[in-house]
Amino acid sequence: MDAMNKNKQLLLILMLSVLTTMVASYNVPAVFSFGDSIFDAGNNRFKKDCTIQANFTPYGQNYFHHPTGRFTNGRTVPDFFCQFLGIDLQKPFLQAAMEVNNNKSQGYPSNGINFASAGSGVINATNADEGVMPIHQQLDQFKLLMSQNRIDKKLVQQSLFLFESGSNDIFNFFIPFETPTLDPDAFVDAMLAEVGYLIDQIYQLGARRIGIFSLGPVGCVPARALLPGEPVTKCFGKMNKMIKKYNKGLETIVMGVPLTHPGAVAVYGAVYDIVQRFRAIPQRYGNFSDLHPGGSRIRQPHVVV
Ligand SMILES: *[C@@H]1O[C@H](CO)[C@@H](O)[C@H](O)[C@H]1NC(C)=O
Ligand SMILES: *[C@@H]1O[C@H](CO)[C@@H](O)[C@H](O)[C@H]1NC(C)=O
Ligand SMILES: *[C@@H]1O[C@H](CO)[C@@H](O)[C@H](O)[C@H]1NC(C)=O
Repeated sequence: MDAMNKNKQLLLILMLSVLTTMVASYNVPAVFSFGDSIFDAGNNRFKKDCTIQANFTPYGQNYFHHPTGRFTNGRTVPDFFCQFLGIDLQKPFLQAAMEVNNNKSQGYPSNGINFASAGSGVINATNADEGVMPIHQQLDQFKLLMSQNRIDKKLVQQSLFLFESGSNDIFNFFIPFETPTLDPDAFVDAMLAEVGYLIDQIYQLGARRIGIFSLGPVGCVPARALLPGEPVTKCFGKMNKMIKKYNKGLETIVMGVPLTHPGAVAVYGAVYDIVQRFRAIPQRYGNFSDLHPGGSRIRQPHVVV
């Protein structure tokens, strides 16, 4: 193993142990998640005008044994966190809101809320025509609940905040006729500005324990082959280059959090290298032949993550 790989492995072990310490040695009563299909617990299912749905089999078949609106056959990353913490899985925000409005429930759940929306991104315009809820809207939903005192402030301070978004923005950047006028670097900077804004806002509302997940190699997803002129037999290098730049920016933001946001702990989840490792030597990580990974459904030329 070369030095670089060894470093990466150490980093991974460090990250996992920091996360473990973060969640295990403190009392974490609730989890609030923001993101795309990697995190979505079924919000899109409650949005009638949203065309990006996972409410059919094989979604859900291996764990819940019925579709739940999650874009995976099993559990999402926030689900695994909750089980590790020993708390119930979060409801999608739109379900919780519906139950409150119908008088089916007295208030919002005390174990956190899942705001994630499959197909969404950190940029408002990403898949807007599909009716998804971008990060900004997810944040507004959380803000509204806080301003209405629907969520206990003390609970927020002890809760874990999870964020994962950006793949759909970068994938869509390469769709013809939808390409933004910004160049790749400026586009990534605009994305990072949105992430910075989210962190500022949740911090101001009391968030102190924050996990930021980077993106995997989106340039390697099967749907890249639908982009005209893009490689079919290898990963799409230009896309992965943008992903890496975004990840680097995320890491810088996370490393700066103790200074920019006193009292907060933030952890960077280095997803890219872990996924590349799975791709390089899958046999070392179990049998992947039966996997329906969250977020590789193909709709027209959109990849839904
Ligand atoms: C819920 O309860 C409130 C207050 O009791 C009532 O005004 C409202 O009509 C009820 N809503 C539904 C959908 O039953
Ligand atoms: C994104 O949409 C929200 C409304 O949901 C708006 O307040 C915000 O200014 C928009 N952001 C940008 C960069 O246009
Ligand atoms: C992997 O899983 C598939 C489907 O469950 C099964 O058919 C196959 O035999 C497994 N392969 C190995 C090497 O275990």
